[in-house]
Amino acid sequence: MFDLSDSVVLVTGASRGIGRAIALEAARAGADLVLGFRADAPGAEEVSARVRKAGRDTRVIRADLRDRAAVAALVREAGAWKGRLDGLVTSAGTYDGSSTEEVGDREWDDVVRIDLEGTFRTVQAALPWLRAAGRASVVTISSVMGSHAAAGAAPYQAGKAGVEQMTRALALELAPKIRVNAVAPGFVRTDMNRGGHEDPGFRRRVERSTPLGRWGEPEDIAPVVRYLLSRDAGWVTGSVIGVDGGIALR
Ligand SMILES: NC(=O)c1ccc[n+]([C@@H]2O[C@H](COP(=O)([O-])OP(=O)(O)OC[C@H]3O[C@@H](n4cnc5c(N)ncnc54)[C@H](OP(=O)(O)O)[C@@H]3O)[C@@H](O)[C@H]2O)c1
Repeated sequence: MFDLSDSVVLVTGASRGIGRAIALEAARAGADLVLGFRADAPGAEEVSARVRKAGRDTRVIRADLRDRAAVAALVREAGAWKGRLDGLVTSAGTYDGSSTEEVGDREWDDVVRIDLEGTFRTVQAALPWLRAAGRASVVTISSVMGSHAAAGAAPYQAGKAGVEQMTRALALELAPKIRVNAVAPGFVRTDMNRGGHEDPGFRRRVERSTPLGRWGEPEDIAPVVRYLLSRDAGWVTGSVIGVDGGIALR
């Protein structure tokens, strides 16, 4: 079930958090991994070592998704590595929780250029490789905030809503050979929201509003991505799958 043997998968944002867990899960499923990261080289190397320990091959590539040339180079190198790309997971992302008055150029630009445009440019650059694979799967990472509004963080929420609609549009455009789906996590314990889960009041509010009663772990997200990458999801495209402890039901 959910086997990824003989496939090559590029995961962006693989140095930490959700992308890291996805890379390790894909390696356990038999994939060789290209690990994209921006700054955390030791993190990426640690993931690489664990992938190798699981018996799979890896390549670590630094690329800042705000730089289009770097995105193109990342994907070119990733595809050329084994001469193929069967899967792409766009987990690299950033969050900004500023109120609207506080959003300056940097806050807007980072969220839009990394989360939204970075996702698009990565898929766009990977297309020749994904098409050549015959059957390929793309998994984008949205958020519960891509469809459920919260006060504050308007640019982030707009970016994630954009990722979801982009996912549906790409699914239509790229069918039947390339499937494109999104996973929309709820509150997951990573560096991205460390301030939130280290604040006892906020941590408890999330626990209370999450029907399954706890924060998610990166390992809660990874198996769903593994499924979407696999042939077992061969009739699934254009879906946005919430992995959120039920918080979207509120
Ligand atoms: N954590 C949550 O509660 C949650 C909830 C919903 C959705 N999400 C989404 O899940 C995805 C992963 O989030 P996370 O929680 O795992 O975050 P995280 O722990 O902060 O990790 C972010 C990852 O993205 C990479 N990254 C950031 N900016 C980049 C850039 N400009 N270019 C290339 N890579 C960049 C980082 O690379 P470096 O390590 O090298 O800096 C890191 O690998 C994001 O799209 C996020 O929006 C997270």
